[in-house]
Amino acid sequence: MPIFLDTGDTQEIARFMRMGLVRGVTTNPTILAKSGIKGGIAAIKKRAIEIAGLVCPYPVSVELIHNDPSQMIDQAREFSQWGTNINVKVPIHGPHGELDNLEVIHTLEAKYGIPINVTAMMSAQQGFLAALAGATFVSLFGGRINNMGYNCTDEIQKLRRLLNEHELKARIIVGSTREILNVIEWLSAGAHIVTVTPALLEGMLVHPYSKETVQMFLKDAESI
Ligand code: E4P
Repeated sequence: MPIFLDTGDTQEIARFMRMGLVRGVTTNPTILAKSGIKGGIAAIKKRAIEIAGLVCPYPVSVELIHNDPSQMIDQAREFSQWGTNINVKVPIHGPHGELDNLEVIHTLEAKYGIPINVTAMMSAQQGFLAALAGATFVSLFGGRINNMGYNCTDEIQKLRRLLNEHELKARIIVGSTREILNVIEWLSAGAHIVTVTPALLEGMLVHPYSKETVQMFLKDAESI
């Protein structure tokens, strides 16, 4: 399952699904807001169900919008009812470093059997702890790590080695893609999945010299 789409845009998801390229979708509140969704939880539910239907049986991540632990558990249980392929995104910790989230993650996975994608992680050590807590997916934000002056490929390699050595089930998703070369670079470093914006995926496909070559074929075909 190497490539997920990082978007809430159903037209783009449908377009790349028709090409057979996409094996899942990740969203977050920022992405959904950027796609123009308004109307609170009802609007999130409607869009999540649309996306889940488009990519079924591939997974879709929908992020919690609460920070209070008991509300997080209730909301995650609600999200998981929206589709059999919906997993719930939970940030590694609260906005000020509060530690309740790992307990929420562990409870949701161990007690309720809800697959969790632990998000907003910037290091292998965070990913390792999230995997130990039972996460199904552990999301490293590659572009943000690089922007802080660290090399995200080092974090991916370290985390993949730890998951393998300790036989943890978590799959590494690397998001926050900034450049077309990130996809192959991060998969080669050990990411199980790279989640990519539709614009970057299109950029991977189209090459100026391929365009020129195809133009030549079509022009010469006319002279036959
Ligand atoms: C990953 O799952 C996130 O949705 C996303 O890639 C974050 O990217 P950003 O750094 O562009 O916000």
